[in-house]
Amino acid sequence: MLKRLLLCIDVSGNGLLHGAGMRQFGTAWDGWQVCTVSGLAAAARALRAHSFPVGVLISSFDGLGELDSFLHQHWDMQWVGIFPPRALQMAACRRLVRDHCHDYHTLPVDMLRLRHTLGHAYGYATLRELPHAPLCALEQPDMALKGGGVAIGRLRSQILKVAGASAPVLIWGESGSGKELTAQAIHVHSARAAGPFVPINCGAIPAGLAQSELFGHERGAFTGATRDKRGLIESAAGGTVFFDEIGDLPLPLQTNLLRFLQEKTIYRVGATHSTAVDLRVIAASHVNLLEAVQQGRFREDLYYRLNVLALDVPPLRERKEDLMLLANHFFSTYASERAPMVKGFSNAAVEAICNHAWPGNVRELINRVRRAMVMAEGRAIMPQDLGLSVADESGADVALDGIRWRADREAVQACLASAGGNISKAARDLGVSRMTLYRMIKRLNIEC
Ligand SMILES: Nc1ncnc2c1ncn2[C@@H]1O[C@H](COP(=O)(O)OP(=O)(O)OP(=O)(O)O)[C@@H](O)[C@H]1O
Ligand SMILES: [Mg+2]
Repeated sequence: MLKRLLLCIDVSGNGLLHGAGMRQFGTAWDGWQVCTVSGLAAAARALRAHSFPVGVLISSFDGLGELDSFLHQHWDMQWVGIFPPRALQMAACRRLVRDHCHDYHTLPVDMLRLRHTLGHAYGYATLRELPHAPLCALEQPDMALKGGGVAIGRLRSQILKVAGASAPVLIWGESGSGKELTAQAIHVHSARAAGPFVPINCGAIPAGLAQSELFGHERGAFTGATRDKRGLIESAAGGTVFFDEIGDLPLPLQTNLLRFLQEKTIYRVGATHSTAVDLRVIAASHVNLLEAVQQGRFREDLYYRLNVLALDVPPLRERKEDLMLLANHFFSTYASERAPMVKGFSNAAVEAICNHAWPGNVRELINRVRRAMVMAEGRAIMPQDLGLSVADESGADVALDGIRWRADREAVQACLASAGGNISKAARDLGVSRMTLYRMIKRLNIEC
């Protein structure tokens, strides 16, 4: 349960707060614990010390100054702005309200209305907290692999088990499902964590240089070898080497790798002696290596050498319970790329996310969330912002939400235009109160 902590910022630091009849705020008011500060630097200090679900900004608004970037940084709070009426005639102030504020008031403050606004903002903050709850309850804080479901829980406990051993690990999983992250987690929890983690993409090693890239070379081994060079395997000494897409490793290199796994020594190209290298080997593949063995593309003996400890990373469609937790996690991770007014996912977007098959797994989810954070035009991400085909995958309800939103937006825009921008007239024409119309303008993200 969130604490009812309220941060009250006198942005301009000119005592506007007290002048506004809010002296009664003190340190406790109407069930709130209030922290009142003057200026943004003091506000930033208060925010480092405590987490506030709701903040009040009172500003005479002489320009944006640092306010925009400050609010951008603290996007996860519900902000209520209080400004002199003239400030709202400035486009910058209106934009700030639209992008960052849960609601706004004009001076002089109507304390009863403010009490309702703050209560509503707190309710909203509480709602936004809920999807994160399983993350806190089930997450192992030191594990980069996020997820609270059974499948990811099983994978995490397997990671911890194999981390304690030193035998090779073979990780299987579809593209983008988290194989490299799994390999990193094994390394981080192993006794070699202080050593290097060296990933090698076996499909991307240039053919002519492959031998020397992996095993290194001695000076004079070939034209252009002007000095001794350590290979990638040697550079992982004391740590872990991760062979990604091991199925793409050319056959001659498979033979050399097998020798290394058997003897724990390597031969640099052109060397007459071997070098002992102590490291852990982890390999990953998104194709079935046994099939590659049957087709003669992968050495059977290497397969059995690598497949001592096998881990399966489940595809995202088999851990739907983690979808929103991951989506919210990436939303927070890439918060700086977010259009300022975007606060989270709409119900329609949640449904579209849950209905999509995610063939590109977690990487696809990251890309779609990042795209939506930029493309969204309202406060909540819609399915189309994620590039998800609403009609095909998410059913009629989701499609309806989007259609309704667009229809409402067009109707309100048309009404405002025919009323010449006069809010009272447009509200009368629509048959709603002025306050309702203001709320609709905000919800539908209409510039006026
Ligand atoms: N459970 C997870 N929690 C958080 N991030 C994840 C999780 N799984 C994957 N990711 C992220 O998804 C992206 C893809 O993961 P990763 O590179 O490990 O997948 P992969 O299976 O190796 O993909 P590929 O087959 O394309 O090489 C990375 O940015 C990774 O950090
Ligand atoms: Mg990978």
